[in-house]
Amino acid sequence: MIEKVIEGKFLIDGKIIHCCVGIERGIIVDVKKSLDGETRIRFPRGLILPSAVDVHVHLRDPGLTHKEDFSTGTLSAAFGGVSCVIDMPNTKPPTVDKESCKEKISIGERKSYVDFGIYLGVNENNLKNLKDFEDLVTGFKIYLPDFDVTLLGELSKLKVKKVLAFHAEERKCIEKFGKKAENLIEHAKTRASVCEKMAVEKVLKEMEKTDLRIHFCHISSSISLYALSRFKKKVSVGVTPHHLLFKASRSLTPQSYYKVNPPLRTSLDQEALWEALLSGEIDIIESDHAPHTIDEKEVDFSEAPSGVPGVETMYPVMLYVFLMKGYPLERLVSALCSRPARLFGLKKGRIAKGMDADFIVVDLKKMKKIRADRLHYKCGWTPFEGMKGIFPTDLFIRGERIIEDEELIGDRGFGKFVKPREGEESCMEK
Ligand code: DOR
Ligand code: ZN
Repeated sequence: MIEKVIEGKFLIDGKIIHCCVGIERGIIVDVKKSLDGETRIRFPRGLILPSAVDVHVHLRDPGLTHKEDFSTGTLSAAFGGVSCVIDMPNTKPPTVDKESCKEKISIGERKSYVDFGIYLGVNENNLKNLKDFEDLVTGFKIYLPDFDVTLLGELSKLKVKKVLAFHAEERKCIEKFGKKAENLIEHAKTRASVCEKMAVEKVLKEMEKTDLRIHFCHISSSISLYALSRFKKKVSVGVTPHHLLFKASRSLTPQSYYKVNPPLRTSLDQEALWEALLSGEIDIIESDHAPHTIDEKEVDFSEAPSGVPGVETMYPVMLYVFLMKGYPLERLVSALCSRPARLFGLKKGRIAKGMDADFIVVDLKKMKKIRADRLHYKCGWTPFEGMKGIFPTDLFIRGERIIEDEELIGDRGFGKFVKPREGEESCMEK
């Protein structure tokens, strides 16, 4: 008999169907109208959706743990319906060599509530040896504002299979606009969208003829989307909830809390991002969870660090907006779950045989006002304060219940390190 069966209303391939999902050793082994199992969990109410894979979080551990750490960040992820995160390398020390990779994986294995991957930060020193890191990390991150773009040619010659994720803003271009910004509108002008587009074009020009798996993180402007439109099949593109839901304006207060890179832009950019998300031109939604403390944000705008927290609100807020606007849920689940998993070569994000048994249960009628004091971030604030969201009541990761009736029952250290296995690498196909 099958170890565990979960029965309820599932969203599968765009349809809501009542069925049973059979699970053995954390993996989905069958999906059928009826199934017998040693353990059976029924959800007579609520809808069961895949949980999210957030490929862009800054958990700040090690070294910056006054902002967040692997426990608080992944606990927040769990309450936000995210069963897997991939952590960015700008920690202290930065994740740029074997020792720092191993240290971060061991921190995650001790502290993580959800499954996690890590990025290697690509720099001048490790660039030539990226192949040596293929077995160690989940992906590669290239932060172009700090990267010598003349090295892109060198990068294009490498034969690595893991995703190269680019933060696309061109340093020289930013420096040209260069003056201090005192508010969000000025910030958007000094880190103009043309600097994003220029970076996108430079990467595309160098990488066009390669088989490298290129991902553009958090694209924020309509002109970058235009530059990308010719390459739709070759590269993947991400967007954040904050770029979809906010524009640079005086009404966002305090202004410094909304300071982020790339900056919030205009309502025309927002419209273009929505259109591209709904058409599938944008592949995925990523939170770019980048927490800073209230003390760090409560300074003069020009001195405040860039970044907003978002891993816990990403799925709830987007689910609420999709429902309110009548957009297809299937599209949202693709952008939050199945597509990021597939792009990064992870067996997650889909309710189908062979996938990890990762799901959330949601009650679509239960909308909640987002309040920082109900979230689990160490930083204690959210840019989505007062907005509405639909939070999961239950979360399963690899068949284990982590959250039950909105209460944590999972353990710190349950989260496993994930990376694509040989032969199951990242895939662009839909
Ligand atoms: O706004 C941002 N904050 N953009 C980044 O690229 C980095 C991030 C951070 O780590 O705080
Ligand atoms: Zn980031």
